[in-house]
Amino acid sequence: MFILSIETSCDETALALLDCSGTSKSPKIKVLENLVSSQIDIHRPFGGVVPNLAKREHEKNLPLLYSQIKNSKHWKTPDLIAITSGPGLPPALWVGIGFAKKIGEELDVPVVGANHMEGHLYSFLLEREENPQNLKLEFPGIALVVSGGHTMLLLMKSLTSWKNLGETRDDAVGEAFDKIARLMNLPYPGGPEIEKLAKEGNPKAITFPRPMIYDKNPKTKGNSYEFSFSGLKTSVLYYLKNLFPNEESFQNFRNSSHNIESRKNSPISDQQIKDISASAQQAILDVLSKKTMNAVLEFGAKSVILCGGVAANQTLRRRLSEDCEKLGAKFFSPEFEFNTDNAAMIGAAAYIRKISKKKPYPLVADSNLTL
Ligand code: KG4
Ligand code: ZN
Repeated sequence: MFILSIETSCDETALALLDCSGTSKSPKIKVLENLVSSQIDIHRPFGGVVPNLAKREHEKNLPLLYSQIKNSKHWKTPDLIAITSGPGLPPALWVGIGFAKKIGEELDVPVVGANHMEGHLYSFLLEREENPQNLKLEFPGIALVVSGGHTMLLLMKSLTSWKNLGETRDDAVGEAFDKIARLMNLPYPGGPEIEKLAKEGNPKAITFPRPMIYDKNPKTKGNSYEFSFSGLKTSVLYYLKNLFPNEESFQNFRNSSHNIESRKNSPISDQQIKDISASAQQAILDVLSKKTMNAVLEFGAKSVILCGGVAANQTLRRRLSEDCEKLGAKFFSPEFEFNTDNAAMIGAAAYIRKISKKKPYPLVADSNLTL
């Protein structure tokens, strides 16, 4: 099945062409084209995504990407068009849905809605022709879904059936990275910035809290798979504030640009920023890994799937992969280009739903869709 997929849920406008085959036990999802137009530079001055700016940019970018994909060597009329129904920013989702319907009519091709989170979950299945994966999935599996809006652990009984073991009570992991970065006046999105600085910092320099790492579920006395990251962010805030003689100098630092020049007269050194980044990242990784491995042991999981934008973090991938090896579980994570938002994963989600005979999502923006 040949699929054209579209993603506009947040700040990336994306289109992809996929060649999908196989069953839900052993799907084969080949990515022929994967176009992503990022709006990050437009939203960066605001420190986050501005919904109406995102809408305007999607309106501008969609026709451009569509004409680019139609001129690509892989273009032919698709069998199906898949578009993200949610979760995401409603104004951004509606632009994509309207566009998908319009080209569906033009091409006389059916259009289906897809769940962005199912897209992240299945993004490890995406493969390029030049880099075939030959994945051998084994269940039960544990999926750790970590993005800007979600932090979830799932017990996967198969590729298409799962139980939600726990979610975050407050900030999602990506959000925690972004907020901690913002405290240090680092650019948006904060995750990649923190990871970069952490490479030159000491992860043991500061002992930040590992929220809920040893928590037990009071109902079952089993492990708790809930997360909480807002306390960590507050802890970084207090640690930072303590490095300044008064509130005014702290606010001056937060309003300066993060470069050596602008911090010449600041009481905080570049090395301290790197150490805070490395220590905060370490706290996050410890929590994510400990909880995932607890779930592997408790449920006898044979595989671990890491997905979502935060899965782009190489240190997290390495840590989980090493911890899985110690427990004899296989580790799966998407190729780098498929970690952050893209349309290929939306096509994958629509295909898996179709072959598992589940109803597609309606062509209505639904910001509350989840897994
Ligand atoms: O999945 P995604 O692209 O968008 C959502 O659906 O939310 O995830 C974006 C999130 C942002 O919070 C960003 O800071 C985080 O993923 N992120 C990272 C890294 N790359 C992106 N977090 C940590 N390390 C990274 N390398
Ligand atoms: Zn996403």
